[in-house]
Amino acid sequence: MRLFASLLCALLLSVAPAFSQTQLAATPPMGWNSWNHFAAHVTDADVRSAADALVSTGMRDAGYVYVNVDDTWQGKRDAQGVLHPNERFPDMKALGDYIHSKGLKFGIYSGPGEKTCGGYAGSLGHEEQDAKMYASWGVDFLKYDLCSFQDNMHKAQAEHPNDPNAANNLMIAAYRKMGDALKATGRPIVYSLCQYGVDQPWKWGPGLGANMWRTTDDIDDSYGRMIAIGFSQAGLSKYAGPGHWNDPDMLEIGNGKMTADEYKTHMSLWVILAAPLLAGNDLSTMTEADKSLLMNKDAIAIDQDSLGKQGDRLYESGDLDVWTKPLSGGRVAVGLFNRSWSVREVSVDLGQIGFPNGGSVRDVWEKKDLGHRSGVVVETLPKHGAALLIVGK
Ligand code: GAL
Repeated sequence: MRLFASLLCALLLSVAPAFSQTQLAATPPMGWNSWNHFAAHVTDADVRSAADALVSTGMRDAGYVYVNVDDTWQGKRDAQGVLHPNERFPDMKALGDYIHSKGLKFGIYSGPGEKTCGGYAGSLGHEEQDAKMYASWGVDFLKYDLCSFQDNMHKAQAEHPNDPNAANNLMIAAYRKMGDALKATGRPIVYSLCQYGVDQPWKWGPGLGANMWRTTDDIDDSYGRMIAIGFSQAGLSKYAGPGHWNDPDMLEIGNGKMTADEYKTHMSLWVILAAPLLAGNDLSTMTEADKSLLMNKDAIAIDQDSLGKQGDRLYESGDLDVWTKPLSGGRVAVGLFNRSWSVREVSVDLGQIGFPNGGSVRDVWEKKDLGHRSGVVVETLPKHGAALLIVGK
């Protein structure tokens, strides 16, 4: 009996991963991803220089540790079904080793369909084989992008016209399949679902081991698109928490098409949302302004707060918007936003956010303690501007 019990125990230990979904992403993952800047032209050299820059700029030490190669690294499958990288990526294991040698983590991209969005090989029918290969390369993060699998979903729906869930069930099964394959490798790999918020992934993502899921379609480097995504996240806070995060897409800070105030809005909103912070710019050409947004210690601490609570809207009034995020130690982060085209005053009543007797206020972007304040705090914001405050007892 005792022998049986210890055999069973050994068996369980050998199949159960030595890490939990929560430990894998106890706070929102932070790092860099190649897509927003390099898109389909990314090379091994670009990724290595991003890794170098994460170290030399201080971003790694600020928390940005994942170096994620997005779409277009893939070459062809051989007769055994093994997927090889294309000529722009001579040796993925060596790339992973290089990234790890810098104290960083290695991320990769695939999808459940036959093809990715860029028309490269997806993992359909090769899920376990691909997961094992990623693990052998030392991969720490997988972004799994729906793309051509939508064709399979349309087909399933056409074949089952009376089942309104046919397409979505197929999609969920495909995401579960890769989630299980990743777990079976025994390597801790952050699992990031990219399916543009189709069928409320925040409801089923955590159940299949996902650590984050895109909540919307793609961001681009424009104020209009960024705020459309950011402010549409209202109401989703209850679905995020340690190990499982809503992902409103990667950062555009530093890509050059928004103003400094617009990028400040971007960073302020994303940290209030406890969003994964994946820089999407060319790190080798970062300006001091980009660095001060991406590496502001208080802003990062809001995003990464140990309570693991996503923020949500407090109120909206025309073009003015105020959001709050509960922080550890009874503190609250407040994001104040002016979406209008002129200078406006935006205010928050400290009594309304849990400080009836007032509290200490820190201005994150000004890097200044404003002392004890009570009642209504008013910020004068430029057009498309934002302020970020931390209020404590
Ligand atoms: C999109 C995805 C982007 C990027 C791109 C690559 O579907 O949302 O973030 O990964 O595919 O082709």
